[in-house]
Amino acid sequence: MIAGAAFDAVDLIRTKRDGARLSDEQIDWVIGAYTRRQVPDEQIAALLMAIFLRGMHPAELTRWTAAMISSGVRMDLSTVDRPTVDKHSTGGVGDKITLPLAPVVAACGAAVPQLSGRGLGHTGGTLDKLESIPGWRANVSSDAYLAQLRDVGAVVCAAGDDLAPADKLLYALRDVTGTVESIPLIASSIMSKKIAEGAEALVLDVKVGSGAFMKDAETARVLAETMVGLGDAHGLRTVALLTAMDVPLGRTVGNALEVAEAVEVLSGGGPPDVVELTVTLAREMLAAVGLSTVDPADVLQNGRAMDTWRAMIAAQGGDPDAALPTAPERHVVTATDNGVLTGLDAYAVGVAAWRLGAGRARKEDSVSAVAGVVVLAKPGERIEAGAPLLELHTDDPERIPRALVALDGAAEFDGPGDTLPLIIDRIGA
Ligand code: URA
Repeated sequence: MIAGAAFDAVDLIRTKRDGARLSDEQIDWVIGAYTRRQVPDEQIAALLMAIFLRGMHPAELTRWTAAMISSGVRMDLSTVDRPTVDKHSTGGVGDKITLPLAPVVAACGAAVPQLSGRGLGHTGGTLDKLESIPGWRANVSSDAYLAQLRDVGAVVCAAGDDLAPADKLLYALRDVTGTVESIPLIASSIMSKKIAEGAEALVLDVKVGSGAFMKDAETARVLAETMVGLGDAHGLRTVALLTAMDVPLGRTVGNALEVAEAVEVLSGGGPPDVVELTVTLAREMLAAVGLSTVDPADVLQNGRAMDTWRAMIAAQGGDPDAALPTAPERHVVTATDNGVLTGLDAYAVGVAAWRLGAGRARKEDSVSAVAGVVVLAKPGERIEAGAPLLELHTDDPERIPRALVALDGAAEFDGPGDTLPLIIDRIGA
């Protein structure tokens, strides 16, 4: 036991190991003490594994999340004179939805405060995508953040160190102890950051399928219900959509490639699935803050969302007119058979983009702005043998063979064609 400590970490580990509940005081103590680095990693690792195996009671998880929020600041957005609403996606391949969504919702009258992280593994991070725009900066001071929310209505920037610092420590430890894939730990990690962000409402996009954290709809539903429950318990109006991630979203995967596609959507075009998901999420966000009279589909068409995008990029030093970087090396993958493309595995395409340089394996790695995959044929399309299916982009041709290995078997022809519907379900009031 640590001298002067209120509790002994071993007692907490034994309690969870045996399937019992931690008290509020024990939870407050362990999260606070770990954030101050007064409890060693090995004890927290054992506690996380016990939670992974035994789960948490809803009241216990609510307190655990509250303690994570209290490890840092809870932002005060009361000086922003618009209703505030955010969106969080659990991450997917080609998921660039935040880029058109934040400006369209802002152009409809709400403010979108989005503190983001960087991508890890086969799904890209929003900050990495935006950093492919020449001049754009992810770091914004608190004063500039509030001013941009008031003036432009949307900010997507890097979260400061004072936003749920307990989560940074816990997530790093989960990453190396096989305890990431736990519903209470994922839910408290995501929701502690989103609640601390200070918005009035939140719409969650919980992805389902091979390219997502949650491979099946049942597990995704449990995660969504857990997060909606945590939001409600902390006064954050929360709704969740379960959406498809068995096939890449849109036609691009990779940082600058995805920005270019988002700009197409903001220009009133773009792939139908990206437009549909953007508009569906925007309607949910606007309804959550009582702004349902404006239709985001119109705001995408009439150029007002584009005006807000330009202001949002310029406010963070970016040049919305600058040409995006493009890849010097390309390789086209062609179809081997005639037939109808009935599946394109999101995970395989995500891994290929990652191997081409679009993603990072460790937090410290840098990412390529230009690397990625262009999806030239989507499920439902009939294609001939020899027709182009995918185009691989990279700065380094030596990366192409390993990307091709990832794509082996990714395309299915004339199969049952049972891809998931884009919007699978909605959870919340
Ligand atoms: N994203 C998070 O922020 N936390 C998790 O635990 C998983 C995904």
